[in-house]
Amino acid sequence: MKPLPLIIDCDPGIDDAVMLMIAFASPRLDLRAITTVAGNVPLRLTSRNARMICERMGRSDVPVHAGCPRPILRKPVTAEDFHGESGIEGIGIFEPKAPLAPGHAVSELIARLSAAPPLSQTVILSGPMTNLAAALVMAPEIARSIGHLVVMAGGDRIGGNITPYAEFNVFADPHAAAIVFDASIRTTVLSLDVTHTVRAEAPRLASLRKVPGPEARMMADLLEAGNRLEARWKNGQMAPMHDPSTAVYLLAPEIFETRPCRVSVVTRPGAQFGRTKVMDTERGPHHWATAADADAFFGLIESLLKARA
Ligand code: BDR
Ligand code: CA
Repeated sequence: MKPLPLIIDCDPGIDDAVMLMIAFASPRLDLRAITTVAGNVPLRLTSRNARMICERMGRSDVPVHAGCPRPILRKPVTAEDFHGESGIEGIGIFEPKAPLAPGHAVSELIARLSAAPPLSQTVILSGPMTNLAAALVMAPEIARSIGHLVVMAGGDRIGGNITPYAEFNVFADPHAAAIVFDASIRTTVLSLDVTHTVRAEAPRLASLRKVPGPEARMMADLLEAGNRLEARWKNGQMAPMHDPSTAVYLLAPEIFETRPCRVSVVTRPGAQFGRTKVMDTERGPHHWATAADADAFFGLIESLLKARA
């Protein structure tokens, strides 16, 4: 089967980095471009971190375009508590050899999507949705070429992780999320409802540590750092596999359960600012993931890394 062409918009971020590694490790995904946004750490760092992961995975040929340095309307928020000052705590920091690709992420999204046939493109968003929202405002017709958008965003049953109601990516730019969800693009949403059921528990890490090669070691180092930070702020809990769920979903949708719905975002200031509201409807266009098989999830990641060791 031909590998699936893919664009990833991200804010690495420990779990974004793990997600990028999964995307690079799978021969079934053809990662054509990475766009970066301010989120977990400022844009300069998310852009460097994405290029570091490309280099460590031997894929410095993949262009990394830097995007929006701030959200649309609200004041910027970051998440160093959960990702470290560098954004990718747990691995050595270096200046990547490949520079940033020329061209703003928003222009690049517009150029790539407007040149593509209808419904032909798959896009992952694993950070605040500022870049795609800005692209949709500038060129609404690009929505037509996106056949599948896969986002890590929001929470319903489980509430939020940054406020009692809001999940970080939506809270960090609720206006952008509202624009993206309103664009009526077929979207699969991996929210806290599902990512909190797939965590990098100690036995999973021990098993990953047995996979030979530098990539498995690097992923285990990242996940271990994520666990240390999560445990510090969240009562000893291990880190959820938020962003990796997007890439794993594309590779193995059968290990997830989803329900059709329409998602809206609370943008009114107040306690619920940044909350996602999920209205069940057969017509979609969104699909909300409700469950995942955690054994199959980690099994898939290990098998990808084993095949490259
Ligand atoms: C999301 O927020 C970020 O901190 C993570 O990278 C993930 O995308 C989880 O709420
Ligand atoms: Ca992220």
